[in-house]
Amino acid sequence: MDPVRLYSARANTYLRFVNSVLYPQGIRAYFLRASYLQSGLRVLDAGCGSGIVTFALRGALLKCGMVSESFHAFDLTPAMLHRLRETLDKKAITDVEVAQADVLRPEELPAGWTDYDLIVSASMFEYLPRNRLADGFRNLHSLLKDTGRLVLFITRKNWMTRTLIGCWWKANQYDREELEEALRKAGFGPLTFSRFPIQYRWLSLWGHIVEAEKVPLQSPTE
Ligand SMILES: C[S@@+](CC[C@H](N)C(=O)[O-])C[C@H]1O[C@@H](n2cnc3c(N)ncnc32)[C@H](O)[C@@H]1O
Repeated sequence: MDPVRLYSARANTYLRFVNSVLYPQGIRAYFLRASYLQSGLRVLDAGCGSGIVTFALRGALLKCGMVSESFHAFDLTPAMLHRLRETLDKKAITDVEVAQADVLRPEELPAGWTDYDLIVSASMFEYLPRNRLADGFRNLHSLLKDTGRLVLFITRKNWMTRTLIGCWWKANQYDREELEEALRKAGFGPLTFSRFPIQYRWLSLWGHIVEAEKVPLQSPTE
């Protein structure tokens, strides 16, 4: 199913579902213990939806007394972006910039949305056709600084996610080897597979957390 139609029609259901499993809290708890957070980062949330990861990461940075240099977020579905903008307005947050774009068409991003230290992406790559997964990763790779890092939250392949995420949320699931292959193909080097903190351990049944460091792609002549 087309993700724009899905998330235009089911945004409320999605939010009820993720809130019921404490997904926003689990993501925030993961970021609170992340060693790579520091002040002055250029940050991008790719496939931000209504902003769960944006708010979790921004909240974790603030709690640790850190401020990002810039915080950008994009998504394909206008209805999800509308919710994000509403929440930003309600909370009087002015330091997050939002845009509509497709991860497979990075040229749609505003000028200057590049050179990131940290790109986060949660529950979005599942909606790309399986044969475009590495293309999506490569597009994010090209938006990172040479020392940048991608942190990916993505659905595991198991009996539970086949039903819950595959059938209900019409999304793909991946095993570790498939992710490693696609990330390496896209130019990522050292990969760390992490887990949600123990108090949210059930979220690790749902998803992988992959911290992927950029390795600059070499031109064929090098
Ligand atoms: C399950 S929601 C996740 C939203 C948010 N990251 C979160 O964790 O709550 C999936 C989101 O991916 C977005 N999406 C799907 N395909 C996309 C694409 N090709 N480019 C950008 N966003 C996409 C959808 O619009 C939707 O908002």
